[in-house]
Amino acid sequence: MALPIAVLVSGSGSNLQALIDRIEQGALDARIALVLSNKEGAYGLERARKHRLPHVCIPHADYPDRAEFDRAMIRAIRKAGGEAVVMAGFMRMITGEFLRAFPGKVINIHPALLPSFPGVHGPRDAADYGVAISGCTVHFVDEIMDHGPVIIQAAVPAYPEDDGQTLGGRILACEHRVLPQAVQWLATDRLRLEGRKVRVQPAPVPKAGEVPGALVNPPLELGF
Ligand code: GRF
Repeated sequence: MALPIAVLVSGSGSNLQALIDRIEQGALDARIALVLSNKEGAYGLERARKHRLPHVCIPHADYPDRAEFDRAMIRAIRKAGGEAVVMAGFMRMITGEFLRAFPGKVINIHPALLPSFPGVHGPRDAADYGVAISGCTVHFVDEIMDHGPVIIQAAVPAYPEDDGQTLGGRILACEHRVLPQAVQWLATDRLRLEGRKVRVQPAPVPKAGEVPGALVNPPLELGF
């Protein structure tokens, strides 16, 4: 059974699109139960509309505090049947109460190699610092910003002429590859938490007629 996920967005939603595409290709055992944005004009909501996905805007400014805003999100996600939460370019911190509503099932993508460059300007901070390698991180969410256990990271080169935009664009292309993979592991119950460490369970023994991925080199890419 496909895992019903809520995807939280604040902006363009290109990571949401990557998830939609993988689901439509049949590569990802999840279904999008709800796209939720805290911003009225977020293009992520438009993407949801185009693909006829349930979507809702819950402006955070309508609520007196973070706790009330999060309670509104919890209600909307539960009503839609969401069992896991993917923060895909969602620019708000969430509360412990929200995390406890979906225990072990809230993940986030961050455009830097954590623990370096947390915060809202990851690519710009990395470019300004002059790193030679940057990348992205998908991690479980805890109550500290960009801090929870790492599920998967991917690296890209960074060049002296990079700024936040050029480096961010290179990182974003990577995000679109690794986020659907992390969601697939979550959806198929392949992630085990050992303290701060995340172990990805081996792929199940292939059924007759399936290609055994472990014996394919170079490895098959997502969607094949
Ligand atoms: C991405 O880099 C994401 O990691 C972030 O915001 C950016 C926007 O992504 N925090 P998207 O196009 O809205 O998915």
